[in-house]
Amino acid sequence: MEYNFTFPLLLYCSVILVPILIFLFLKPNKRSLTKLPPSPPGWPVFGHMFQLGTLPYVTMAKMKAKYGPVIWLKNGQVNTMVIQSTNAAAEFYKYHDLSFPDRLIVDTLISHNFHKSSFVFAPHGPYWRMLRRLCISSFNSKIDGDSVQVRRKCVYDMLSWIGKEAETAMIEKRGIEILDFVSLANINVIGNILFSKDLVDPNSKTGRELFEAVTGYFRWAGEPNVSDSLSWLKPFDLQGLKRNMDKDLAKALKIVSGFVKERLEEKQEGEKKQKKDLLDMLLDFEGNGINEQEKLSEHTISVFLLEMFLAGAETTTSTIEWTMAELLNNPKTLMKAKHEILKVVGKNKRFEESDIDNVPFLQAIVKENLRLHPPGPLVLRKATKDTSFMGYDIPKTTHVLINLWAIGKDPENWSDPLSFKPERFLGSNIDYKGKYFEFVPFGSGCRLCPGLQLAHRLLHLHLGSLLHEFDWELEDSFPLDMSEKMGMTVRKLKPLRAIPTKSCF
Ligand code: HEM
Repeated sequence: MEYNFTFPLLLYCSVILVPILIFLFLKPNKRSLTKLPPSPPGWPVFGHMFQLGTLPYVTMAKMKAKYGPVIWLKNGQVNTMVIQSTNAAAEFYKYHDLSFPDRLIVDTLISHNFHKSSFVFAPHGPYWRMLRRLCISSFNSKIDGDSVQVRRKCVYDMLSWIGKEAETAMIEKRGIEILDFVSLANINVIGNILFSKDLVDPNSKTGRELFEAVTGYFRWAGEPNVSDSLSWLKPFDLQGLKRNMDKDLAKALKIVSGFVKERLEEKQEGEKKQKKDLLDMLLDFEGNGINEQEKLSEHTISVFLLEMFLAGAETTTSTIEWTMAELLNNPKTLMKAKHEILKVVGKNKRFEESDIDNVPFLQAIVKENLRLHPPGPLVLRKATKDTSFMGYDIPKTTHVLINLWAIGKDPENWSDPLSFKPERFLGSNIDYKGKYFEFVPFGSGCRLCPGLQLAHRLLHLHLGSLLHEFDWELEDSFPLDMSEKMGMTVRKLKPLRAIPTKSCF
């Protein structure tokens, strides 16, 4: 007897397939109900990850003309919302700050369990709150009083290092790399806040090692990593970034934990200090035992201290390099700033922090530079819940990038936005404390930079001193190449080299 397969096959199909089809048709399609921001066409699997180039904040800013101020990108598997206008930033910070308080942990940060002790990448919660409290109280108590002298000493040391170089630099018509000197001075300022000691001078071995390890950290953490976009590639570490990070972070942590051990020994020997620095505060810390650790581990303290170097020294250093580059490219503005400083400080004195309030043009220069060159052009945040943002449905865990670089150049708020014109800030109330959303180089909201006050003092003290003490001439031909490179901060592609001569007044 011939067996007819048709009937049972049809039966099976109707029993299995029909319910599946009904389920697929009737099931609410989450994506069709979700209204996401506009998105440029991307590749399957990879999304937009190969379209962002080496300066992603510039590429994204260009997308604004076609796709609007809020765009949606898929960086491999990572859903990303990008915010690129003053209005969208105002909406974000005023009404949604606490829906996006976390940050995405990139693969390189998992090295040496850095992410577990990190403050900058800590989720918004008791641990982050506790470290932020410690950080702010230590920075604020270090703004006035003795710390003014410490900063002055570090910057004046820098002036004398440059002075020595200037003697030969002028004769040989050879420029110096300003960044090297400013960087050492800033490492010492932060070193004094943390451990009450100078860490480096141009000849110190430990200083050089710390500087190199920290530079490495920035390089490996800042480079776009395919493992962050496609998590299944993590075990292969195709670009070797994690391996390099392991190496440099081990070096940096070894140096910093050496300082911690040294202090612990001093304490055991009963040495009493009159003034407490941040390291004392961290070692003496006793949590409430409920949602705070009772004591901070040595590793947590070392990571926290290292992060302060990372967050504090690099940002201020690269900002000073950019400001000097803009000034050397705009000689009239440079001369105007020098005259203002000379008028306020006089001939036989040096620039002091107490002069800052009396140099409005220098203040305008610092603002204008931060508008054009925010050292961290992209603020990173992450959604901790589903949120409706400007009519879009933003799912939990979405990665958010606030494009500070684009916001500072928003033509709706800034005329001739790409030109360096400090005068635009004269007579204007706009400051960088996070309330004017057209200009937020220090961020805003719950994660506003806790080092803002310190950075304000440092930037003006450095620049006021460099301009008052020396005349500067370009080593390269005029105008300077202002190309950028992106790491954890945006640096000049070609480090600024300039020839210092002792000011003739
Ligand atoms: C030109 C100088 C500086 C600029 C432009 C700057 C900018 C920023 C920005 C944009 C953020 C992220 C804000 C956000 O997520 O909304 C930030 C966070 C931070 N900054 Fe700064 N910063 C500077 C200097 C400093 C200094 C001198 C220190 C300390 C020594 C510091 C310590 C930090 C820390 C610890 C965070 C993380 C705060 C948190 O996650 O709660 N910064 N900074």
